[in-house]
Amino acid sequence: EKGTYPHFMLKEIDEQPFVMRNIINQYQNENGDLKLDDDIRAAMKEADRVYIIACGTSYHAGLVGKQLIENIANIPVEAHIASEFVYNMPLLSEKPLFIFISQSGETADSRAVLVEVKRLGHKALTITNVPGSTLSREANYTLNLYAGPEIAVASTKAYTAQIAVLAILAVDSARAKGIELDFNPLQELAIVANAMEVLCDQKEEMEKIAREFLAVTRNAFFIGRAADFYVCLEAALKLKEISYIQAEGFAGGELKHGTIALIEDGTPVIALATQEHVNLSIRGNVKEVAARGAYTCVISMDGLQEEGDRVVLPKIHPYLTPLVSVLPMQLISYYAALHRDCDVDKPRNLAKSVTVE
Ligand code: F6R
Repeated sequence: EKGTYPHFMLKEIDEQPFVMRNIINQYQNENGDLKLDDDIRAAMKEADRVYIIACGTSYHAGLVGKQLIENIANIPVEAHIASEFVYNMPLLSEKPLFIFISQSGETADSRAVLVEVKRLGHKALTITNVPGSTLSREANYTLNLYAGPEIAVASTKAYTAQIAVLAILAVDSARAKGIELDFNPLQELAIVANAMEVLCDQKEEMEKIAREFLAVTRNAFFIGRAADFYVCLEAALKLKEISYIQAEGFAGGELKHGTIALIEDGTPVIALATQEHVNLSIRGNVKEVAARGAYTCVISMDGLQEEGDRVVLPKIHPYLTPLVSVLPMQLISYYAALHRDCDVDKPRNLAKSVTVE
């Protein structure tokens, strides 16, 4: 039930702090330590390479997951779009572990890969919001997202839940391998939950940005570097699917290799600047597009902000910035769709669960 909310999407965006806290509770033991299935821990420890398979928003969470698992657990990871993996199967490593990320657990493109993976005799872990789903039943192991039912077609809380669970999995795998870490994911996720709450209270500003930048435009671009680039891909998908604005997420460094040709007078460009090591370069990109007429909006993070930034996110651990930086993007897409009279919860041509290939 959406209660007092006008749309499920807005309700589900607002639920994200609770989902983070729920994940913290579900994945800790009585001592407040991480608690994960021993079999999953063993499978991750055994794997010489992880293959993440997913579609759409879940694939975008997988891109963040790749970074988390590689940086935290030191296991090589490839992230693939399920529908392409079937034809372009890479040469597999000796001991691969497959991770399927799927909110619904019913996505046919992902299932086609799972069937093939099982035929080849490899192990699979499904990360899903629906434990009894097809992908969960057919895989060897399952991790639950504990996000509660997601009704809006545009995925929001499942995306952040997927990243949170991937961070927990990465840390558990690192511990299994004896890697020393000064990163406590449960503590950091609690900080994330509070930061999300702060942003959920800034809806008026997000609505203003949507009105100013996206109410009448034909197209829109999101630019970012490093982890911000992955969030830009997700921001563009969110905006496309519910507002029908042609939107693209670009890696800041790629602009000069072609895409900057698209910038005209008044083209909206929303930039994410939450990554300290690339802050100078993304700021440079913002100046480049502004010099060519773009109408720019910068979303940065406490400690990295500059005058004129439209949103400044509370500071959180660098591993987990996508969990917080995606939230203004979700809200901006939501309000853009409202301004354009679109059916937010049921966008045209789309189904919540895609059960055909
Ligand atoms: C976008 C969206 C889709 C799904 C994709 C995969 O908002 O919801 O891109 O992410 O269809 O669905 P699941 O995660 O159920 O496999």
